[in-house]
Formats: sequence, C-alpha cells, structure tokens
Amino acid sequence: MKIVVIGKGGREDAIVHKISDSKKVEKLFAVPGNPGTGRYANNISLSISDFSVIADFVKSNNIDIVIPGPELPIAKGIKDYLKKESKVFVFAPPQSSSFLESSKIKAKEFMKRNGVPTADFVSFDDFEKAVQYVKTRTRFPAVIKADGLAEGKGVAIAHAPAEAVSMLYEYMVERKFGESSKKVLIEDFLSGLEYSVFVVTDGNEFVWIGDASDYKRAYDGDRGPNTGGMGSVSPVPFLMPDMRRITLETVIKPTIDGLKKEGIEYTGFLYFGLIWTSQGPKVLEYNVRLGDPEAQAILPRLRTDLVEIIEAAREHKLGNLTVEFDERVSICVVLASGGYPVSYEKGKLIRGLNKVIPEVTIYHAGTKEVDGQLYTDGGRVLNVVLLGKDFPSVMERIYREIEKIHFENIFFRRDIGSLERFAL
Ligand SMILES: Nc1ncnc2c1ncn2[C@@H]1O[C@H](COP(=O)(O)OP(=O)(O)O)[C@@H](O)[C@H]1O
Ligand SMILES: [Mg+2]
Repeated sequence: MKIVVIGKGGREDAIVHKISDSKKVEKLFAVPGNPGTGRYANNISLSISDFSVIADFVKSNNIDIVIPGPELPIAKGIKDYLKKESKVFVFAPPQSSSFLESSKIKAKEFMKRNGVPTADFVSFDDFEKAVQYVKTRTRFPAVIKADGLAEGKGVAIAHAPAEAVSMLYEYMVERKFGESSKKVLIEDFLSGLEYSVFVVTDGNEFVWIGDASDYKRAYDGDRGPNTGGMGSVSPVPFLMPDMRRITLETVIKPTIDGLKKEGIEYTGFLYFGLIWTSQGPKVLEYNVRLGDPEAQAILPRLRTDLVEIIEAAREHKLGNLTVEFDERVSICVVLASGGYPVSYEKGKLIRGLNKVIPEVTIYHAGTKEVDGQLYTDGGRVLNVVLLGKDFPSVMERIYREIEKIHFENIFFRRDIGSLERFAL
C-alpha cells in the first residue's frame, strides 16, 4: 500500500509514525512533512493548498490512500477534488460535511435535529436582532461564538447584557474574525470537565480510537492566553468506564446515526469536544480531523494497525473490527518557543535530543534541518511523548527527560499530567 499523509505539524508526525508501523505499508510519503516525518517517510515538498499538484503526485506514484491531517485542505474540498481526478481513497470527509467544524451554527442545528446533547442556543445573522435578544436575556454568563473558523479564538464569555452587546458589535459589525463572525451563536454556559473523544467512521459505523484531555492555556494551572495546545494526556483521567459508555451511547451513537439519516457521506476521523456536566456529557464542538496535540497522546496507545482501521472504513467493515489499546497512559508535553503564542523568535539551535531515553518519542511540530543541525521553526517546536503505568510516574520521568533538551528561550508547561485539574 502506498500512502500520503498531508501536513507538517506534530499531529502529522504522529500519524506518519503510526502508519509507518503497519506491515501493509510499502511506500510512505509526507506532504510536505517535517524533519520528524523524514525519519520514517519520504518528505515531498508540495503546497498543500494546490490540489492539482497533489493530484499529479498521487497519480504518478500510484498512491492508494491520502490522509489529510489539518482542517484546511478538508474544508477546501481535497476529498472531492482528488476523487474526481484519481482513484485514490482520501481518508477525510467531503467538503459538504466539513460544516460540522467550519460552521458552529450548522453543527449545533445538526446536533439539535439528531438529539445530540449540547448547550441550548440561538443564532443570529443580524446585529440589531442579536442586540435585542441579549438585552432581554436573563441567563448569564452566555457564550458567544463566531460561526466560522477563527483559529480557536472565536469564543467569548459575556457576563452581562452590556458586555454581550459590545462583543456582538466586535464580532458582527467590526468583523473581528472577518466573514467568520458575520453570524454568531449564543449558547448557555456549561460548567464541568472538558474532554475529547476520537472516532473513525464511514458515516454508518464507527470505532472509538482514543480519548484525551488537552491543555489549551499557555501557563501552568490553566492560566494565560489560549494556544494551539501545550500538552495532552490519554486516556482522560476522570472518564470512568460508565462515563465512557454514556458518552458512546448518548453522544457518539446519535451523531453517527444523524450522519447516516441525513445522507452525509462522512469518512474519516471525527473529533468530539465534550464537557461532562451535572447532566452528563454535552458536545461543545466537532472537528473533522484529529486534534493537535491530542493525536500525539492517543495514537501511541493504539495497538490496532491504523491502516487496517482506515481500510475497514473504506470498505464499510468497521463493525467487524475490535480496536485494542495499550493499557499504559500517555503524556504529551509541547516544547514551545519563548513568547508563544504572542510573538517568538525562530532559528534557535536544538540540542540534546540524542540524550533522551529511547522510550520517549519526540514528534516535530516546528523544526527545520539545516546542514544536519536542527533549529526551531515555529511557536510549538517539539512534542515529547511518554507512556507508562500511571500519570504521576510518567510525569516524573518525562520532565526528567525534557531537562536534557535545550534551545534558547525554551518554554513548556510543567503540569501536564497533573491530576488536580481532573477532580470531578
Ligand atoms: N457552552 C459553553 N460553556 C462553557 N464553556 C464553553 C462553552 N462553549 C465553549 N466553551 C469554552 O470555550 C472553548 C472553545 O470553544 P469551542 O466550541 O471548542 O471552539 P473553538 O475550539 O473553535 O475555539 C471550549 O474548549 C470551552 O473551554
Ligand atoms: Mg475547541
């Protein structure tokens, strides 16, 4: 089997690594990949937004499967494009179903139609009407969300009507997020613990491939600005077996049944952003891809061959598959550039990777290789992953190993895996 993975971050390095374990793989390419993926795949430097160039590559190399990592090519319709141009199987949903991630309003309407538990909501495309509504709203805090993609920055919490009005003004009139904030969603504030669940589905059947908690804030104790993610753990520490079952039955099953009922041809990974409330699980959002850095913590725990899972999705045989997991827990710590997520420098020499014990896996998120030396090349630079018996022991070992890695202004959270934040 000849496989292409699209993307160049830590998530894609973890996907490529996992795929490279499969006996079914004959040739593996990363487009464009990074120095990490270069360890077990051929990096092909093509633009991931130029689908015609990718189609040519796929055809001339007889590629069997394309796996897009990031959201952008999926939302831009890579599935549809390559399907028209070649016989390749793209393991991703078509553009028509990427609304599950790219429109928060459409996703919520889908949840509502299909009985998927989520916060009550209203939506507006008219500023005046939205203002009228919040002025008489009594339930606060209220959560205001830009309808479209906003790089994880489109969610604001209003504590009173006046604050809501000024947020609506920024979103809808000033267009803080451009077209993405032309329409807004206003929903009830939920309290509880957040977690993420990942499945592979063919739009009819599904398998659970992992669950994780991520750390979005920049600093220890969940303080500071939001980032792309400073770390993750898997499995979700507080998710007891019955909570897992309830999530499966009340959230995942109705979602997949909804896809089927609505004739949505969804193939690929599906990510459920969830919150466990006093009334059980509720969906915060869907993503039509794996999360980053959640993928880096969940994929190493997957015992079943990922290529086999993807083939089962292609052949509509997911129902016959039992997915097995490594019993151990995993922690992923993101090593970032000082100043991330606001402003940071690149091009710092990375040292010490060869000193780290072999049990530790290092995924590359923002690195560059020049003359055999590795340099920082982004905000999030490396993802350090370790599996072990329990969170406290893995935490201790992983931070000991991280001490061996150096680059100027290295910055990371020191509390990834700490169980304090997971007290229900
Ligand atoms: N209804 C809600 N109640 C409480 N917190 C929320 C609610 N919706 C979102 N949040 C918070 O905002 C974060 C981002 O919201 P989410 O819908 O995941 O959007 P995105 O990831 O696209 O920014 C969530 O992880 C959660 O912490
Ligand atoms: Mg989110």
